[in-house]
Amino acid sequence: MATPLKIIMIASECVPYAKTGGLGDVVGALPKALKQMGHDVRIIIPKYASVDARKFGLKPFHSPMGVWMGGVEEWCSADEALTEEGVPVYFIEHQGFFGREGIYNNSRHEDYLDNSRRFAFLTRAALQLCIDRNIEADIVHVHDWPTAPAAAYLKTWFWNSNVLGQAASVLTIHNIGHQGKYGRDQYGYTGLGWEHFTADKFEDLGNINFLKGGIHFADMVTTVSPSYAEETRNTELGAGLSAYLRVKGDAYTGILNGVDYNEWNPETDPFIPARFSAANLEGKAICKAALQQHFGLEVNPNIPVFGVVSRFASQKGLDLLYPAIHTVLKEMAAQFVILGSGEKDLEYKFMQLPAQYPGKVGSFIGYNNELSHWIEAGSDFFLMPSRYEPCGLNQMYSLRYGALPIVHATGGLIDSVEQYDEYDGAGNGFLFWDAGPKSIHNTIGWAVSTYYDRKHHMAKMIQYAMGQRFSWERSAGEYLKVYEQALQRRRQLVR
Ligand code: ADP
Ligand code: GLC
Repeated sequence: MATPLKIIMIASECVPYAKTGGLGDVVGALPKALKQMGHDVRIIIPKYASVDARKFGLKPFHSPMGVWMGGVEEWCSADEALTEEGVPVYFIEHQGFFGREGIYNNSRHEDYLDNSRRFAFLTRAALQLCIDRNIEADIVHVHDWPTAPAAAYLKTWFWNSNVLGQAASVLTIHNIGHQGKYGRDQYGYTGLGWEHFTADKFEDLGNINFLKGGIHFADMVTTVSPSYAEETRNTELGAGLSAYLRVKGDAYTGILNGVDYNEWNPETDPFIPARFSAANLEGKAICKAALQQHFGLEVNPNIPVFGVVSRFASQKGLDLLYPAIHTVLKEMAAQFVILGSGEKDLEYKFMQLPAQYPGKVGSFIGYNNELSHWIEAGSDFFLMPSRYEPCGLNQMYSLRYGALPIVHATGGLIDSVEQYDEYDGAGNGFLFWDAGPKSIHNTIGWAVSTYYDRKHHMAKMIQYAMGQRFSWERSAGEYLKVYEQALQRRRQLVR
C-alpha cells in the first residue's frame, strides 16, 4: 500500500449521526472504506440537537475553543466519538448555531436565515480544532457549499500553519443546485477578506457564493458521477458555474458513489419482513405481500409494485410522476408505494392519492429508514424521475434488492442503470430521456408489459441487477488517486 494519508473530512451530515440525504450516506461510508485501506481518517460535523449523544457515546474532547470569525470571537467546544469501525468523529458544539431542531431548515422546510454564518463557523471551527489539538492533515476533504470555504481558509488563514500548512484540499460537489448564495452583508462574518470577494472567487452578482469560492480555492474538485461532471461542465446543469468548473481542467472529475452493503443487503437486512438472495427469491415475495398489506393494497403477487423513496424537491421530478400515476392507473394493472417528504404541495398530493385509488396506491409522508428498506425489498420496480441527479443512491440500492430502476437518463443514473434490451433481456432497468409525464407514463408502460409478457427477461435482469456491486472500495480507490493529485498540486504552490 502507498503511504497512509491523514485525511480530515468536514461535512454538515454524516450517517448515523445526522442525515437529510445521500450526502450523509457518503460521509458515513467513504471514511470507513478509507480506514479499511489503512488511512487515518477523522470526521468533523456539528453537534446538532438531534445527535443522540448518549447512544453514540459522545465524550468531551476540547473545551473551551475560541474561533475567530470576521471581527468576532465565537466560543464553542468539541466532543468526540468513535464510529463502529473506529473512525474518530468530532462534533462542534455551539448551542446558538446547532442547538435547534433541523439541520438546514425548520419543520416548515424554511431555511434558517443564519445558515451562511452557521456553516462558515462550522468550517472555521473544524480547522481551528485541528490546530488546537495538533491534528495534522495531508488532505482536508469537504462536501458541498456548507464546508466549501475550508479550501479558502487553508489558502489564506492557515497558509503558514505548522499543523495544516501542508494540507491539500478536495471539494466534493454532491449537488450544484445548492451553492450557498447569500447577501454580501454576510461576507464580513466569514473573515475571508474582501480581496477574495471577486467574480472568480466568492462574488456572484454582488452576492456571496460559497461553492464558487470553494471551487476556486480547492486543489481538486470532484462530483459524484462521471456523467454529472460532464453535465455540470458543459450544460445548463452547471447552474451558472460551468465556466468556473471548466477553468479547473483536470482538477475537476467525477467519481461514482458506492453502496454500503452492510446496510443495504437483502440477505441480512434486519428491517425487512423476510430475507432473500438472487439464488432464492422466496423472501422477496414475502416482502412484497407484506408491503402490499401494510399499505392497504390488494395483496396479489401478480400485480407489479412501483416503489418511490425520495425527498420531495423539484430536483426529484415527483411533480412529473404525479400526473403519470393517474394516467397509468387508468390503463394498467399496477400499484404504487410512495415514501417521502419535503415540499408541502407534493406532500399533500401524495397523501391524498391512496384515497383516490384505494388498493392501488399507498403513501407515507415522512422520513422512515425502516420503510425505505422495506420498499426496496417489496417492489418490483423503483422509480426515479429526477430532473437531474448527481449520483443517486436509491437506484443502486434497488438493484441489490431486485427492484428494477426506472429512471430519467441523467447524471449518476446514466452511470448505474443499463437500458433493458427487449431483444435478449440484457440490462438492469429502464431509462427515459425526456423528463415529462408522458415519457414517464410510457416507460412505466414498457415495464408493465415486460412484467406481464416477458417474464424470462424480468428474471434475467433481476439476476444481473442483484449480482452487481457498486463497492465503496472501488470509489475510495478513485478518491485516493484524487488525493494524490491534490497533494501534487498543493506542493507545486510556493509556501
Ligand atoms: P438525495 O441525497 O438527493 O436525497 P440520494 O439518492 O443520493 O438522493 O440519497 C437519498 C437517501 O435518503 C437514500 O439513502 C434514501 O433511502 C434516503 N431517503 C430519502 N427520503 C427518505 C425518506 N422519506 N425516508 C427514508 N429515507 C429516505
Ligand atoms: C446529493 C445528490 C444525490 C447524491 C448524493 C450523495 O444529495 O442529490 O444525487 O447521490 O448527494 O452524493
